[in-house]
Amino acid sequence: MTFHAENIRSSFPSLQSGAVFLDNPGGTQVPQHVIDAVVDYYKTSNANHHGLYETSRKTGIVVDNARQAMADFINAATANEIVFGQNMTSLTFHLSRSIAKLIQPSDEIMVTHLDHDANVAPWLFLQEQGAKVTWVKINTTDCTLDLNDFESKLTDKTRLIAVGYASNAVGSINEVKLITEKAHAKGALVFVDAVHAAPHVPLDVQDIDCDFLACSPYKFYGPHVGVLYGKQKHLETLEPYKVRPADNNPPDRFETGTQSFEALSGVIAGIDFLAALGVEDERNYSNVTGRKRALKNAMAGIQQYEKELFVHMIDGLKQIEGLTIYGITDQQHFSKRTPTIAFTMDRFSPQEIASYLGKHDVYVWDGNYYALALMEYLGLEEHGGAVRVGIGCYNTQQEIDRFLDLMKNL
Ligand SMILES: Cc1ncc(COP(=O)(O)O)c(C=O)c1O
Repeated sequence: MTFHAENIRSSFPSLQSGAVFLDNPGGTQVPQHVIDAVVDYYKTSNANHHGLYETSRKTGIVVDNARQAMADFINAATANEIVFGQNMTSLTFHLSRSIAKLIQPSDEIMVTHLDHDANVAPWLFLQEQGAKVTWVKINTTDCTLDLNDFESKLTDKTRLIAVGYASNAVGSINEVKLITEKAHAKGALVFVDAVHAAPHVPLDVQDIDCDFLACSPYKFYGPHVGVLYGKQKHLETLEPYKVRPADNNPPDRFETGTQSFEALSGVIAGIDFLAALGVEDERNYSNVTGRKRALKNAMAGIQQYEKELFVHMIDGLKQIEGLTIYGITDQQHFSKRTPTIAFTMDRFSPQEIASYLGKHDVYVWDGNYYALALMEYLGLEEHGGAVRVGIGCYNTQQEIDRFLDLMKNL
């Protein structure tokens, strides 16, 4: 199916402002469908769940449906493998505390120089248990993960590898399936940070076979909430940090306190919105098989569309004198990256560029976007990091041209 941004732009009220949103890796805009679902929850279902009255029952249904929607989105075997929380960072800290209980002083944990700090800092705390942390290097020429380095550092003592599906700074997509296979062969667990990949790549936890995967619906047209997938066996056996009266069954046992039910209502709407982009006729996503297939189609269409915009953007940026792009720039390998570009310029700091573009209503980010280890590795951290420009499914070629024109006139 061919995807066209023009068909969906009118569904996003914030796009009507005329601003160009190229800060999508920091968070996407939401369609009216999501806004309506949040408002509707407050009007019709607002309550805590597990109560014996109508609105509480409705809230329970929202939670169940949100789990099923997320399970469909990442192709989890069951909705009971979906844990909700405030955001990916909180969920990862929460999980690392439970995993810490498995750690012995001689154990090793692997993190990477490519990852967002939310997939690094929570694991560094395992050093308190005596674990040794090893870092996987990157190939600096194209900012891809050095798989030889990964293999050479993977040992029988490795208990966990924390790896990103895709870099939120330079867009490199990692071979998470291969990494998982090799890690499992050594008996290590695999935690995948799919926050940046989720809006761009179809996710399939059963195919990857990872033990855990986290993502954040606010990066794929939904509300601010975090999602943690864990294989059923881990959610059953790991010891959660929880209050005593709270449900001790998975996945609830990993959900602390009261969830943002209004956001979960928006999560369902966001996923249904994406699914609707993958069906030819009407919004026929009411049954599970239909929604999974529709999501697959939608993501394939989005991927193709975003790639076209990306090629246009990178070609334009390459023509600008004194501009350095970090990451994969060879078109032959564009399937190994997302449409997110980090760049610096000789004559202007990243902050100056982002501020200039912002004044012209073109929104981009500058700095390290918490990909701290990468910015340090590239020697950019002390120079203000890099400018980051990230395409989303509602961007258009005209918007990319507006950005490129501004860059040429800098
Ligand atoms: C790759 C990646 N991982 C983790 C995070 C943190 O996600 P959250 O804001 O849900 O904690 C982000 C946020 O930008 C990210 O891009």
